[in-house]
Amino acid sequence: MSYDNANEVKATFDNVYIAPTPHQYISLMAKIGYEISDQARPYCTAAARLLREHNGNAWPVQMLDVGCSYGIGAAVVKYGRRFDEIEAFFASRAPKEYHAMCEATRMWLNIVRPPTCDVRAVGLDSSQPAIRFALDAGLLDGGMARDFEQPDVTPTEDEIAWFRSSNLLISTGTIGYVTERTLDVILRHLGKDSPGDFGPFAVVTILRMFDLAPIKTVFEKHGLTFGAVPGARLPQRRFTDADERRKVLSLLHDRKIDTREWEDRGKHFADLFIAAPPEQFSKLRDQMNARRGKYPSGAEVTGHIRL
Ligand SMILES: C[S@@+](CC[C@H](N)C(=O)[O-])C[C@H]1O[C@@H](n2cnc3c(N)ncnc32)[C@H](O)[C@@H]1O
Repeated sequence: MSYDNANEVKATFDNVYIAPTPHQYISLMAKIGYEISDQARPYCTAAARLLREHNGNAWPVQMLDVGCSYGIGAAVVKYGRRFDEIEAFFASRAPKEYHAMCEATRMWLNIVRPPTCDVRAVGLDSSQPAIRFALDAGLLDGGMARDFEQPDVTPTEDEIAWFRSSNLLISTGTIGYVTERTLDVILRHLGKDSPGDFGPFAVVTILRMFDLAPIKTVFEKHGLTFGAVPGARLPQRRFTDADERRKVLSLLHDRKIDTREWEDRGKHFADLFIAAPPEQFSKLRDQMNARRGKYPSGAEVTGHIRL
């Protein structure tokens, strides 16, 4: 896999990704200030709205969250929950017993405050317990617990149907675990059931430590233009400790990436990328530019490979 070297310098959380319930994942991420899903939310909703505007009910928006964990993208984008609200819910209100927890989550999502973004949510993650929970709690309408990084793993007909009927791919905090290999499996089918020609779109965050070239290539291989949203550099989380900080900075410096305004502050930073059919790319990028938030307040994007 192409990201092994970069992955080695990052802290690993593999055990919490596969816990039977979301509690451990969410509390650990909260402890290290995980914020990339919140940061990416306005961009994902802007892409969803643009699709909705053009396709209306003829092709409702179906969002495929790659590396969705316990349905985090759905909680944030579809249900408009901030990560700190999700943390507070699981820390204090969600029962520990599995079925009661799923029911309480369903109530919290649908009754306390209804969905804020009109999408159907489908998720892919290699963690079987994460997908199980996301489906049982009603966060996802469709879920796939699969690891397409493994060379001998191919999608079933049902999984291909989920890819074909999805017109918005999102992924936050997952590229690195997931490479061009998984994207290749998905992109050959993404949006192919469309009755029209608007979409599919993708909104993806990629840490600055990961090489963009294979990701760009795989989107282009499948006929989509891929590029950065200028100025959209988003904080992902704090470094777990001094050792992770030292190793990540060293890797970035080896790759001639200027960290002074960014990782030197003690956080991982990701750039935001989008993909769209060539003739729709600039329209999507304009929507993204309109959403650009407080980071990095107009600073020029430097450091990541320019596309
Ligand atoms: C840092 S979490 C990000 C979760 C979520 N997107 C968010 O922003 O909160 C990374 C996720 O990637 C998943 N993952 C790791 N390897 C994977 C693979 N080969 N295929 C799909 N998902 C994978 C993990 O199980 C985990 O849920």
